[in-house]
Amino acid sequence: MLEQIPQSAAIPDSDYVIFGGTGDLALRKIFPALFWRYIDGQIGKNFRLIATSRKPIEVPEFAEKLKPFCGDALSTTENADVVWQEFIQLVTIQIVDIASGDGAEEMASFLMKGASKDRPLIFYLAVAPALFGPSCQLLEKVKLILPQSRLVVEKPLGHDYASAEKISQEIRSVFSEDQIYRIDHYLGKETVQNLMALRFANVIFESQWNNNAIDHVQITVAETVGVGQRASYYDESGALRDMVQNHILQLVCLVAMEPPSHFDANQVRDEKLRVLKALRPLQAEDIMRGQYQEYEGEIGGRSDTETYVALKLGIENWRWAGVPFYVRTGKKLAMRASEIVITFKKKPHDIFANGKEANSKDDLPNRLVIRLQPQEGLRLQLISKEPGPGGMRLFPSELNLSFDNTFEARLPDAYERLLMDTARGNQTLFMRHDEVLAAWAFVDPVIALARQTPPSLYRAGTFGPEDNFFDEGKDSWLNPREDES
Ligand code: BG6
Repeated sequence: MLEQIPQSAAIPDSDYVIFGGTGDLALRKIFPALFWRYIDGQIGKNFRLIATSRKPIEVPEFAEKLKPFCGDALSTTENADVVWQEFIQLVTIQIVDIASGDGAEEMASFLMKGASKDRPLIFYLAVAPALFGPSCQLLEKVKLILPQSRLVVEKPLGHDYASAEKISQEIRSVFSEDQIYRIDHYLGKETVQNLMALRFANVIFESQWNNNAIDHVQITVAETVGVGQRASYYDESGALRDMVQNHILQLVCLVAMEPPSHFDANQVRDEKLRVLKALRPLQAEDIMRGQYQEYEGEIGGRSDTETYVALKLGIENWRWAGVPFYVRTGKKLAMRASEIVITFKKKPHDIFANGKEANSKDDLPNRLVIRLQPQEGLRLQLISKEPGPGGMRLFPSELNLSFDNTFEARLPDAYERLLMDTARGNQTLFMRHDEVLAAWAFVDPVIALARQTPPSLYRAGTFGPEDNFFDEGKDSWLNPREDES
């Protein structure tokens, strides 16, 4: 057991303005994350949390709507009622209509009372992307673009390269790049950040992290949920836009990037950008799409949108030439599991074989399994000697670092970390505009090519389409060594 868990770094008193503050994202993710940060003492009593709403709503009614989404925090906190009331006192509602601008002046005068250059003024646009531009213009009109102002936006940042560029221009015509925080919530996940620690704070892995030692990499983000209530958004997007363009490519970048010389926002993002630019253009045989059988029934119509996609990526540089990166993601699959598996090359010669055929169990390659969720942790799969007399019997074993068992602290939700970083002014875990565009530049032709062939159907609760083209990739999630844990 590690004794010392690092304490949360202090952040300056700030004003958080959530546009769309009574909407789904605000209720499900943003406010619960802020509440946890309040419980942990990172948000102090001098914060102001401002939810904007088009429709009039009073704070007590808002609090009642929010409370069910904060159930986990409330049930594990002492004096939960008192803490909840204190938190709710930080909340103000401002009635603002982004399209007409009504209410914006009132919000500005509220914010300017108590504003100072040392007090971050954060605008989180939890609204449809079509409102990003108008929201920024409104903030400019009411003179809220100050040196301490920051903008937070989240996907979908465009539908393709051209629309992403348009959004980028709209927000960059008002805010400077160092004021813009583009969220990819995968970067806020503890295990995703740990990938950087694993690679760049340890010597043993980095020296093996290349095509001399690594055979292939697999990245899987499997979900059991379907598209649910989001049918109209999802059917326009599909897994390629919804997951690959952002979360999956960000994971590829973190696995494949060169070490930056400092853990600095622009250096990290420069290195990630290089990976995106080195991705080999895909051919039809590198792409496999699927759709779960119930999908058309759920969305109520014909559709060629993929709810599953598997890609064989290649990175054209010295470190990764010849190492396939198999990535796949899908909905309504057999299990919820996100993991990165680094499979090392097989040993060049078996000194234990002694003329016998190697046994499949003792001839497995070493693998490093990075489990992003659930049961976050790292496992290094090795071959060991079975204890006891009777000759040299080998068996697969594991070095297992389970975060649940090692750290007593709760693993914070991705939004908690990201929201605090906006106040701290740390952009390392946020995407820069050129990264977003480079990801679209890669994904646009993949989508065009992929959509020439209809997706294969798969049954819900399976591992996706049968004719999955990378069988070698399948064993990571089917492998009993992992499923049993
Ligand atoms: C979102 C996608 O960005 O990520 C969803 O729009 C997906 O379709 C979700 O379900 C997955 O996030 P997580 O954190 O549950 O892995």
